[in-house]
Formats: sequence, structure tokens, C-alpha cells
Amino acid sequence: MKIVVIGGAGLIGSKTVGILRQGGHEIIAASRKSGIDAVTGRGLKETLAGAAVVIDLANSPSFEDKAVMAFFETSGRNLLAAEEAAGVRHHVALSIVGTDRTPDNGYFRAKLVQEKLIAASGIPYTIIRATQFMEFLGTIAAASADGNVVRLSPGLFQPIAADDVAAIVADVALAPPRNGIIDIAGPERAPFNEIIARYLKAVDDPREVVRDPEARYWGSLVEEHSLVSLGEARLGRIGLDEWLRRSRAGS
Ligand SMILES: NC(=O)c1ccc[n+]([C@@H]2O[C@H](COP(=O)([O-])OP(=O)(O)OC[C@H]3O[C@@H](n4cnc5c(N)ncnc54)[C@H](OP(=O)(O)O)[C@@H]3O)[C@@H](O)[C@H]2O)c1
Repeated sequence: MKIVVIGGAGLIGSKTVGILRQGGHEIIAASRKSGIDAVTGRGLKETLAGAAVVIDLANSPSFEDKAVMAFFETSGRNLLAAEEAAGVRHHVALSIVGTDRTPDNGYFRAKLVQEKLIAASGIPYTIIRATQFMEFLGTIAAASADGNVVRLSPGLFQPIAADDVAAIVADVALAPPRNGIIDIAGPERAPFNEIIARYLKAVDDPREVVRDPEARYWGSLVEEHSLVSLGEARLGRIGLDEWLRRSRAGS
């Protein structure tokens, strides 16, 4: 089966491509570096010819509100149109838990537009909403830092390791389309400030984490359940301590 992974060189994309290749499928890792651009449409028609499944794991090079909206709206439209022309039978996309509940967050707003385009496209699909990746914890701490103080909400947080995300994405891509959304999350749920404090301590970062219910995450307040699944979520296997151990071993 031919499977095209858009964003196939990225964090989740490269891991997903590796897993699917072990299964003996024909996997095309597509991104601008390999001549395929989902925003301009360059190379899409040729790459998608004969594909049964497309997995969209591309990400916007800029997280600025307008840029990120333009990226997911334009790439979403281009991809879905090219998939319809090619007769693709399953579109899989990676979104974020809480996109429909956090309208102040520009990145989440753009992901919700991407989700709506997919649901309206008529192409069989599965949207996977993941919680924040453990690989993103350092970026979150940096974005929430003011000098030596990192302010974070005590709202619940349940990060997932990229290896777990990729394993689930690969599994979903080989299964029949759900024509719906599934939530995925890491195995541990705890207050946001506590998880980032554990992370910073483990990486010997001396910054102090302050519990602040008013602290914003990419522009929005984080209430108790803003960033976690309200219903059932498929859980990854790698907890934070195990992920930290693996990261240290790999570095
Ligand atoms: N960070 C989180 O905690 C989180 C949580 C849940 C869901 N997600 C979602 O997970 C997805 C994957 O994230 P990631 O961290 O793996 O992304 P990433 O590492 O930043 O990789 C992004 C990929 O997109 C490609 N790309 C960028 N512009 C493109 C374009 N115009 N056309 C085709 N490919 C393009 C990049 O390759 P080139 O530069 O070669 O084009 C790269 O391969 C994103 O959709 C994100 O919204 C993230």
C-alpha cells in the first residue's frame, strides 16, 4: 500500500515513516526539502498518484497567529483537493486535545480550521488529537519564562512522548477510517506547573516554576481541563521519568 506522509521529515513524521517502512509498505516522506510543498501545491499531484493513505504531519514554520492560520488553511485545502483527485481512501491528521475549547489560542484556532476542512471534505478520515509532546516541554518552559521565573497554570497536563504518538499514528493509518476524532495522551496526568518543574529539575535548569492560575499558554488561560481529554483517550506507554531516562541516554 502506498502511504504519503506530509511532514515526513519532522519530529513525529520521521518516527512514523520509520515504523511504517518496517511493515513493508511503500512510504513517501514528503516535505519542502523533498520538493513537495503543501502550501503552494508544488509536487502534490505527482506524489499522491496511487496513494491509498495520506498522513498529514506538517507544521507551520511560524507560530504567529496569522501565519499559522494561513498555513493550516491553505495546506489543508490544497492537500484535500489533491487527495480527492487522486482517489485517496484515508486521510489521517494530527491535531491537539482541546482545540475546540480554547478559542483564545491562535495556534489551536488554526488546528480547528484544519479539522473542519477535513470533516467537510468527503474523504474518509481519522483526526488524532494529541496532548502536548514531551519533546515540547523545553519550548513551553522557555515561552513561559520571565528571567529566572517560569509561570504556569495548575491546570491538568498529560504530555505524551513522540515515540508513542508515532506508534499510534502508524497504527491508525493502517486501520479503517473512523470518520471522527480520537484523543491520545501520555500515561500520567498532573498539574501543568508540577510537570514542567519536574522536567526543569531533571535537566538541571535552575529556573523556578511558579504556580499561577492566571498564566497564559500561547495566549489563553489554562483551566483545570483545558489541555486534557474530557472523554476517553488512548494512552501512550512512556511516562515522564522513562522519557527523561531515554532522552539522557540518547544525548
Ligand atoms: N507540539 C505539540 O505538542 C503538538 C501536540 C499535538 C499535535 N501537534 C501537531 O503535530 C504535527 C506534527 O508536529 P511536529 O512537531 O512533528 O512538526 P515538526 O517537527 O515541526 O515538522 C514539521 C514538518 O512539516 C514540514 N513542512 C513545513 N512546511 C511544509 C509545507 N509547506 N509543505 C510540506 N511540508 C511542510 C517540515 O519539513 P520541511 O521544512 O522540509 O518542509 C517538517 O517535516 C503538527 O501538525 C502539530 O500541530 C503538536
